[in-house]
Amino acid sequence: MGFFDNETDFVMPVDGRVEAIAKVKGQGKYSAEYKVDHLCYGVLVTSEIASGTIKSINTDAAKQAEGLIDIVSHLKKPAVPGFASEAKIKESKFGLPVFHTDKIYFKGQPVALVIAETLEEATYAASLVKVEYSIESFEVDFTKAKNSVELKPAGKERGDEKSWSNSPFSIDQEYNIAAEIHNPMEMHATIADWYEDNKLRLYDKNQGVNSVQKTFAGLFEIPVDNIQVISEFVGGGFGSGLKVWPHALAAILGAKQVKRPVKLMLTRPQMFHSVGYRPASWQRIKLGAGQDGKVTGVLHQAKNGCAIYDPFSDGITRVTRLIYQFDNLKTENAVVPLNLSAPTWMRGPGDCTGDFAVESAMDELSYKLKIDPVQLRYKNLASEKNPETGLPWSTNYLKEAIAKGSEMIGWNLRPGNPGSISEGEWKIGYGMAVGMWNAGRNKASAGIKMTKDGNIVLQTAMTDIGTGTGTGMQNIMHETSGISKNKIAIELGNSDLPPAGTQGGSTGLSSISGAVVAVSDALKLKLAEYAAQTNSKFKNAIAKDIILSDTGISFQRSGENFISYQDIFTKSNLKTIEVEASSEAGEEKKKFSFCSSAAHFCKVKVNTKTGKVVIDKMVVVVDGGKIINEKPAANQISGAAVGGIGMALMEKMYVDAKLGSLVANDLAGYHFAVNADAPIIEVSFINKPDLNLNPSGAKGLGEVGIIGAAPAIANAIYNATGKRFRNLPITPDQFF
Ligand code: MOS
Repeated sequence: MGFFDNETDFVMPVDGRVEAIAKVKGQGKYSAEYKVDHLCYGVLVTSEIASGTIKSINTDAAKQAEGLIDIVSHLKKPAVPGFASEAKIKESKFGLPVFHTDKIYFKGQPVALVIAETLEEATYAASLVKVEYSIESFEVDFTKAKNSVELKPAGKERGDEKSWSNSPFSIDQEYNIAAEIHNPMEMHATIADWYEDNKLRLYDKNQGVNSVQKTFAGLFEIPVDNIQVISEFVGGGFGSGLKVWPHALAAILGAKQVKRPVKLMLTRPQMFHSVGYRPASWQRIKLGAGQDGKVTGVLHQAKNGCAIYDPFSDGITRVTRLIYQFDNLKTENAVVPLNLSAPTWMRGPGDCTGDFAVESAMDELSYKLKIDPVQLRYKNLASEKNPETGLPWSTNYLKEAIAKGSEMIGWNLRPGNPGSISEGEWKIGYGMAVGMWNAGRNKASAGIKMTKDGNIVLQTAMTDIGTGTGTGMQNIMHETSGISKNKIAIELGNSDLPPAGTQGGSTGLSSISGAVVAVSDALKLKLAEYAAQTNSKFKNAIAKDIILSDTGISFQRSGENFISYQDIFTKSNLKTIEVEASSEAGEEKKKFSFCSSAAHFCKVKVNTKTGKVVIDKMVVVVDGGKIINEKPAANQISGAAVGGIGMALMEKMYVDAKLGSLVANDLAGYHFAVNADAPIIEVSFINKPDLNLNPSGAKGLGEVGIIGAAPAIANAIYNATGKRFRNLPITPDQFF
């Protein structure tokens, strides 16, 4: 099955995304696009040095500039109760205490916010602010700094390291991955509006409105309900919106100081040091194996870069504890503080990085053992139980995914000897890798508002970062209630709506689907309650027995006892019927482990003269449970796999070790994969529901689309050329 070419086979009819029309017509409002009365504009002044202390801030010239309203800095700012002391700052876990310190931790750190009537005036006035620093020494070189931090155990050791140290086959290698930037298309932006003394409205780009709401309620010590966060349309997140960042607080402080709404939108270069990134990493993998291909033991060590003020650990070794039946296993981690901004979760966070090392090492082992990489996976996968928890997998179809993927790519055409197929000046090779991600369901709520005409609005606070959450909700509502999709409108991304967790970690649909089923049942029961006033048969009806249509309620089996919404609304003199319900993980968590997984296959061509790598064919077979709507699902996986191409071949944050600055920090300098770099990604789904996880059976998709993509490419490059690359990105110069 190809990407987008199998529409007739869809389980559910495909009507496109619920937000498609709004998006293509430009009606979808992104955070920076809201019209707010008396709006003014904030522009950040950022540090010119990488480490030191602010000595003085001269604002004289800026204050004379046309349109200037005010300037916020650590010298003049509204009070943030949550930052009242060093202890409270630490306790807040906010990260950088913006405008509440004179310390400089990295180049690009916000030191002032200049507020003016227009963006142009604010930009000009910001250029006039002169900051003097006392400069201290700094370190931005991860490769150098990593040697001075010590590893610590990450998770419980399994078995005994000594028992496998003399295995007949072994691999002991190091892997390095450059820091990468999320770079969503939409820049992060915040419009902050204190519309009353203690009441704040935020139009803010993020992946979870309730978490933003909670963070600022905590910092300002005001009730959560005093803060409304709106993030209706999100132009990509990739993890950058999972955390609450200093620029949002800067806008809030600015608005408080000038008593007007303030808009602050980051520039593209500011995006490189303001909203996280995948940290640079070093890893070591030691594998032992017997002649039979069974891995005897593994040692996985990992270090990742972090900010001095935020010891973010990417959890790189977690995935090694998950996929395979490694009975002897030791994992160790460390973070390496640098004079850089804080990293955060990005596209399959941690696991994506760890998986590159493990899946590269497994590939290398397969050549040593002379066992096909697919067969080596089959021999070692933990297919029955989660090796970490010992609980049986609720569902785990990774073996099926591998089998299907090898068929789709034509694995039988893969040369056993690397470098043995040529086409002119190109070498041809095949590679594969697997990826896995813990699946889960978080607490989420959904609400319904129904009107007399049978139209419903289905609501949740959850955001949709482009993954198709709203479309999935509409599909599930239609399936469970019987109401036509064109009668189901979706509202999301607003903290005034029923609360839900952040959209991240591939838990969005898994979490919200439970709430949608619950609220659909609640609507049925509410309507049955009213219907019972006309027909007593509805009195003790249960949700399962009831079906809703576009015009009324009846019993599922016979379709009998129809009562129209018109009748119900008229008889009870109703304007709307409103219900709300929520869902969260329960007892099932104690009985089962849950995972999504994917098998990645690719065929590459490597130019022997230029070192150019062309991804000729790429296949991703995913076990993500039930696929609610195949089109956005395939779209999500395809996009994730393209992210894997970027990770393997292009993406890198360049840091100037002498100056402490980021270089090439725009979309001309930072290379990621575009359409020209990717083939049509062939996506296929196992599509078997996991009905222990949630009522929809959907397990979650996004992360496994990228976890495994980069090692599949590196492994294919080895198969094509005989050159093993253990550092990412693999750029053409490295072939020579
Ligand atoms: Mo994803 S890194 O959970 O947005």
